[in-house]
Amino acid sequence: MCGITGCVLKEGPAAPLIHESLKRLEYRGYDSCGEATVDGGRLYIKKDRGTIDEVHRRLNLDDLPGRLGIGHTRWATHGAPTRVNAHPHVDCDMQIAVVHNGIIENFAELRMELEELGHKFRSKTDTEVVPHLVEEYMRNGMDFVDACREAIKRLRGSYALAILHAGESRIVCARRESPLVLGVGEDGVYFASDIPAFLPYTNRVVFIEDGEMVVVTEEGYEIRRISDWTPIERRPQLIEWSVEMAERRGYPHFMLKEIHEQPACLRNTLRLREEYLELMTKFLDRAEELFLVACGTSYHACLAASYLFSKLACKSSHPVIASEFIQNYGRALGIGSTILAVSQSGETADTLSAVAYARDKAATILGITNVVGSTLTRLARVYICQQSGPEIGVAATKTYTSQLSVLTQLAIRLGMVRGKIGHVEGEELVDWLWRIPGKVEEVLASQEGRVMELARKYAGSERFLFFGGGINLATAMEGRLKLLEISYIPSLAYARVEDYLLGFVDGATTAVFVCPNTNSGKRLIDDMTLIRDYGVSILALVEEGDDEVHEVADEVIELPHMPLEELTPIPYIVPLQLLAYYISVERGLNPDKPRNLAKSVTVK
Ligand code: AGP
Repeated sequence: MCGITGCVLKEGPAAPLIHESLKRLEYRGYDSCGEATVDGGRLYIKKDRGTIDEVHRRLNLDDLPGRLGIGHTRWATHGAPTRVNAHPHVDCDMQIAVVHNGIIENFAELRMELEELGHKFRSKTDTEVVPHLVEEYMRNGMDFVDACREAIKRLRGSYALAILHAGESRIVCARRESPLVLGVGEDGVYFASDIPAFLPYTNRVVFIEDGEMVVVTEEGYEIRRISDWTPIERRPQLIEWSVEMAERRGYPHFMLKEIHEQPACLRNTLRLREEYLELMTKFLDRAEELFLVACGTSYHACLAASYLFSKLACKSSHPVIASEFIQNYGRALGIGSTILAVSQSGETADTLSAVAYARDKAATILGITNVVGSTLTRLARVYICQQSGPEIGVAATKTYTSQLSVLTQLAIRLGMVRGKIGHVEGEELVDWLWRIPGKVEEVLASQEGRVMELARKYAGSERFLFFGGGINLATAMEGRLKLLEISYIPSLAYARVEDYLLGFVDGATTAVFVCPNTNSGKRLIDDMTLIRDYGVSILALVEEGDDEVHEVADEVIELPHMPLEELTPIPYIVPLQLLAYYISVERGLNPDKPRNLAKSVTVK
């Protein structure tokens, strides 16, 4: 996730405004940033690695001349956070500048085509193909706007784009899957990935839809559908949010916003670069012994991964909580050991200690993280960026489902490489993975109201038990961690109802059962009946239409059908994230700031 912004003003310098807007978009990314403006037929650019304040201190982002410009704050996904990879990106002749949020899937083939035509690339980013494509179409005689349109038609993947030309007093923007909004003010027109960027200047907002391109001028904007160039009439609407509310896109807390961002984040994980997935699969396949090492929520992703690797690829692995690793597995490590460390921050002290120790023992280190440039990315032989964008809520939500998606993709590939999954089956599984973001959207749309009701009903419970069999032991454990972390209600998680639990439960206990329509799910029905006799309230997550569980449970939350148990953890964790969130709110707590907890535990 990155943030783009820009404006065309009637008067006055654009750069200080763009700088301020970038500051308000910093929650979308902050490893590098840049601005470009146009004045007197010339393009001016400043960009560098570092936070916006650091870059401003070094370069002064406010003194670029001109009344139109674009800006970008980056969260690296393609290419390390360096000056050369920072946006804006330019064409060969430094006439065209582009900022971009999203992932251009076919950038490698476009880059090759453009290089053959003589274009010189400077960065390792996917974005840089855009200014060169526009340049190419302009070299062939098209005007700026037509060239932008033709260039955009060539792109596959997701984008919110803003394109500036040295000889133009208008800016072209376009959107596909990444957010883009216009702000229509008295003194000019603004655009950004999100409303807070320009909210102090105007609250008249136009939302740009997928497949649309906009030409922004000081007087207004013209929206057209890219495919057939149909003009689109869309009037501004008034937004009554404060800047603070707008940063959370109207959600009362970052946690809820991030829960709702999951479909988009999951789509991003499905656009990871082939070569990284392939390379990591190779290392996983070759591993003589494989340890999956992480803390907290990331450990739950590892636990799920151990089931995925075993069931889809017949590859055994040891999921280990990082703080336990050195003491208990350290002596056994050697050149044949492979450590897959999973850490959204890439900075968790226990995970890094385990990795550093294993590296000293000549083990191979692989990493999955959300932060390119984090310590984990520097220690790992190969790493994959899970592309979730910054997560502000202390409770991990979108980063968990993204980790699961990356790990499922790796398990499917591993299964194929090891001959455990045939081509047709592999393609079907990947096809299902692509459907999961839509399924999560369905869950959010259909179950959130229901979960709110249940949160009201059960917020007063004295204790919670979570049960999940098979791979959904990870779901039960993660559901329990979410609740404990932000509601402080004593909770336990198990695969099955153990006899000794029966002495611990009573009418003030709520038991949550993760019961997809699979063998592991069905096995829990007897457990439900057993524990219900002790006065425990039963809340079950079930596949829609599963009447068997309906009869036993007090309450059910319905989830869409998934063809395989291994694909259920992503949709099934979503209601549990919502349940923890709404129970926390019901109890008058702030879910974004659990007491005594930091987002990242960087000291031991
Ligand atoms: C999860 O909600 C917690 N905030 C915490 O357990 C977290 O998952 C853990 O600290 C690991 O963090 P990491 O993924 O950044 O390494």
